[in-house]
Amino acid sequence: MDFINSVLVFLHLLGMAGIIAGFMLQLIAGHAAGPKSILHSSLLQLVTGLLLTGLAEMGDGPVDHAKIGVKLVVALAVTVVAILDVRRPDKRLAITAGALAVVNVAVAVFV
Ligand code: HEM
Repeated sequence: MDFINSVLVFLHLLGMAGIIAGFMLQLIAGHAAGPKSILHSSLLQLVTGLLLTGLAEMGDGPVDHAKIGVKLVVALAVTVVAILDVRRPDKRLAITAGALAVVNVAVAVFV
C-alpha cells in the first residue's frame, strides 16, 4: 500500500509540474501545446488526488475532508479553465489555471 501511495504522490507531483509547464509554455512561448498540457495534467491531478484520498480513507489516520474538498473544487476550476483555454487559447486563462494550481500547492503544504 505504501508503494502505491508513493507512485500516486509521484504522479500527483508530475501532474502539478505539467500544469505549471503548460502555463509557462503558453505564457512565455505562446506554444500551442500549453493549453493541452494544462488540461491533461489537471485531469491527472483529479484522478491521482481522488485515488490518494481513497487510500487515506482506508488507512488508520484522520483525513482532513475540508482540505480535500477545497483542493477538489480548485482542481475542478483548473480543469474548467483548461477546457476553455483549449477551445480558445487565451493567456489570461493560462494565468488563471497556473495561479489556481499554485493555490492548491499552498493548500497541500500549509493547511
Ligand atoms: C491542481 C490540482 C492539485 C495540485 C497542484 C495538488 C498539489 C499537491 C501537492 C504539491 C501535494 C504534496 C504535498 C506534500 O507531500 O506535502 C499534494 C498531496 C495530496 N493531494 Fe493534491 N493537488 C491537486 C489536486 C488534488 C485533488 C483534486 C485531490 C483530491 C480530491 C488531492 C489530494 C491530495 C492528497 C490526499 C495528498 C496527500 C498525499 C500524501 O502525502 O500522501 N489533490 N497535492
